[in-house]
Amino acid sequence: METISINIEHVLNKLTRAEIDALLPEILEAKKHLLAGDAAGNDFLGWVNLPETIDSEMLSRLKADIHRLAPKSRIMVVVGIGGSYLGARMVIEALQSEFDAMNHGEKPYIVYAGHTLGEDYYHQLLTLLDGCDYSVCVISKSGTTTEPAVAFRIVKAHLEKKKGAEEASKRIIAITDARRGALHEIAVQEGYPMYVIPDDVGGRFSVLTPVGLLPIAMAGYNIDRLLQGARDMRRTCIDNDTLDSNPALMYAAVRNALYRKGIKVEMLVSCQLNLRYLAEWWKQLYGESEGKDGKGLLPHSITITTDLHSMGQYVQDGERLMMETMLRVRKPNATVPVPTDERNLDGINYLTNKSLTEINDCATEGTIAAHVSGGVPVMEITVPRVDEYVLGQLIYFFEFACGVSGYTLGVNPFDQPGVEAYKKNMFHLLGKPGF
Ligand code: PA5
Repeated sequence: METISINIEHVLNKLTRAEIDALLPEILEAKKHLLAGDAAGNDFLGWVNLPETIDSEMLSRLKADIHRLAPKSRIMVVVGIGGSYLGARMVIEALQSEFDAMNHGEKPYIVYAGHTLGEDYYHQLLTLLDGCDYSVCVISKSGTTTEPAVAFRIVKAHLEKKKGAEEASKRIIAITDARRGALHEIAVQEGYPMYVIPDDVGGRFSVLTPVGLLPIAMAGYNIDRLLQGARDMRRTCIDNDTLDSNPALMYAAVRNALYRKGIKVEMLVSCQLNLRYLAEWWKQLYGESEGKDGKGLLPHSITITTDLHSMGQYVQDGERLMMETMLRVRKPNATVPVPTDERNLDGINYLTNKSLTEINDCATEGTIAAHVSGGVPVMEITVPRVDEYVLGQLIYFFEFACGVSGYTLGVNPFDQPGVEAYKKNMFHLLGKPGF
C-alpha cells in the first residue's frame, strides 16, 4: 500500500532518538486503553472501528439520494459547525479545483452555512441561492446548536418560498441523532430523508459517518476509496507496535516528547493551498481533544510558501515556542512546467522546464533547513499524492494518533467541556428561557 511516511530527522535539534523511544511504553499503554475501551471517554470510541463497520445499506441509500438530488442541484448548502462541517469541507477543498466555483460544471458545488453568524455572509448566500437550483444538507448531532439552527431556518424559508414546501422537503436531507433533538423532530415532521450520527462517535471524529460522506459524495468524490484508505490505515495503526512501523504512534510520541521539553505550539504546515482545510479540521481534532486541564499543544497552521511571507519571520526568529509538522505531498496530480523565455527579462531562466513541484520542494527543503537552524524542530509527514484514498488514510492516521496522544498526555481526548462556556453567556445575552 502506498502510504504515509514520517521523517523525524529534523526534530533531533531538540530531542534525542532515545528520548523519543523512551515514550514507547506509555504510547503502547495509551494504545491498549484505546483499543480495549477501558479509559476515560470510552463511550465515544465508535470511530475506531468505523471504516470496518460502516453500514452498506446506509451507503446505498446515501448514493441513491445523491443520484436523485445531484441533477437538480447546481449547489448544495451544507449547514453545520465544528465537527458537523469541517471534515466534509477538508476533503472537498483538498480535491476540488480552487476555481470550481467559477466553472459551471456538472457536479454540484458545495457551499457552507451554520458555521458563522455573520449577517453579510447570509445576505450574500441568499443572493446566490436566488439565482440557482439547490438542495440542502443540514447536520447537527445534538440537533440544538444555535448557529446551524439559525442558518437552517433562514435557508429552509428561502427554499420553501422558492420551490414550495413539498418540493423543498424533497431537497433537504437531515443528518442528526437517531432519536433526540430539535432537528430530529423537524426532519420527522417534514418528512426529510434522514441519516444518523452514531451515539458513540463525537463530532470531530465523525467525517467517516454520513456527516462527511454525504457532502463529499454530493460534491462528486469517491467515498468508497476514502473508506478504503481509512480501512488500510486502521490496520497499520492497530497491527504495529513499534514507532518505526506505526506512523500514528511515532507522531503521538514525538509531539508528546516535544511538549514535555517545553514546546507549546504545533504548527501544521501544508505545502499546498488545497490542504488549508485539512489544517482547520486537524486544529479542531487536536485542540478540542487535548486542550483541557491546563494542558496541550496549541494547534496552529500555516501554508507554504504563502505564509512564509507573513508568518515566516516569527517562525524563524520569534519566541521559541513551536514545533512544525510539515505535511508534504510527493506527487502532484498534474504538472505545470515553467516556460522558457529567450529574453529572460525576469531573470528566472534558471527555472526553465522545472515543474512547480520541483520548485515547491526546494522551497520546502530550504524552509526546513532554515527553521531547524532557527531552533524549531520539524517533523515531516509525507503522503504519496492527494486523492480520496490518501485522504482516508490521513483521516484515520490523525484520529488514531489523537486518541493515543491524548491518553499519553493524561486527558480525556473525547470530551469538550470547555465549548459550553460561551454558549451559556450567549444564551443569557439573547434572553433564551432558562438562562
Ligand atoms: O466536536 C464537537 O463535538 C463539536 O465541534 C460539534 O461538532 C459542534 O459543536 C456541532 O455540534 P452539533 O453537531 O451537535 O450541532
